[in-house]
Amino acid sequence: MELVDPHGRTVRDLRISVTDRCNFRCTYCMPEEGMVWLEKSHILTFEEIERVARICVEHFHVDSLRLTGGEPTVRAHLPVLIDKLAALRVPSDATSPRAGKAPDLALTTNGSTLRNNAAELRGAGLERINISLDSLQREKFERMTRRDEFENVLEGIRAAQAAGFDPVKVNAVIERGVNDDEIVALAEFGREHAVEVRFIEFMPLDASDEWERNKVVSQDEIVSAIAAVYPLRQLAARGAAPADRWEYEDGRGTVGVIPSVTKPFCGDCDRVRLTSDGQFRTCLFATNEFDVRALLRNGASDDDITDLIRRAVGTKWAGHQIGHVTFVKPRRTMSQIGG
Ligand code: 5AD
Ligand code: SF4
Repeated sequence: MELVDPHGRTVRDLRISVTDRCNFRCTYCMPEEGMVWLEKSHILTFEEIERVARICVEHFHVDSLRLTGGEPTVRAHLPVLIDKLAALRVPSDATSPRAGKAPDLALTTNGSTLRNNAAELRGAGLERINISLDSLQREKFERMTRRDEFENVLEGIRAAQAAGFDPVKVNAVIERGVNDDEIVALAEFGREHAVEVRFIEFMPLDASDEWERNKVVSQDEIVSAIAAVYPLRQLAARGAAPADRWEYEDGRGTVGVIPSVTKPFCGDCDRVRLTSDGQFRTCLFATNEFDVRALLRNGASDDDITDLIRRAVGTKWAGHQIGHVTFVKPRRTMSQIGG
């Protein structure tokens, strides 16, 4: 049975955070030092994650699973989890292009480990991969991530392509005064390496509270900057996908922009989230969570878990309020919630 929220949106996508830890310290996400990690015993096991995912896929016809973190590849034995999730099947009577098949399986990563594990992840059944890359200048990359891993990430992108991920997408968060001078260069990188670059508007999820409205570079600004050099044609509406997409008029690929702040896609949102410590959330910006872990560890039945999920989805709001006086920043950062 499908899960429909109070605003008439059907839930189809479950984002699973497998760890709150990360080997980077991106300035827009984490403080330099002093992140307090979740207690190990509170982190869901692969079996627990698989159970929640199975319920969502089999019971609620969720047909898209995305693994996030923190940095998901720092979780030991990640391919084992991918293998389990790839074995799930969307029921054949679901109204989904994936009916009778495995759900779409994707991973969002900072790319730093892919040169070692891209092939293994692909072999385990991962279909799609999004890699973060915010700067093409080595020093700036290091300033933004606080890690000297630029070459490793470039190698990771190549490794993902060599392993057969298609498309490989590259995410770039643009922050005014930091990397907005690299919009065209990043677009060029996408054209030259046959990856779809997706620019993301900077959101107020940073740990150090440095977000300000004027640091957000809007979708309109990003698109005009690119189109001034490489003419663009907008592609058809995005549906539930967060990115608006354009193709280059000269046929050299596509580019996306995720206007999370200036044109929120909440109206089409089909997502729910499971944090690494087993809390079910209906929005990145939700201020409440539902404790699935307690159920998983107290001998609850699948019915108990479906009830909790249904109750949670019953609280899904129409949309976030970034920029409004009523906006309340969530207590947790992006790395703790899962991007
Ligand atoms: N604003 C926008 N995007 C962010 N990400 C992390 N923090 C923020 C933020 N404050 C992005 C990462 C990655 C994805 C998981 O989320 O760059 O692409
Ligand atoms: Fe790590 Fe991603 Fe946060 Fe950067 S944005 S610190 S890579 S979790």
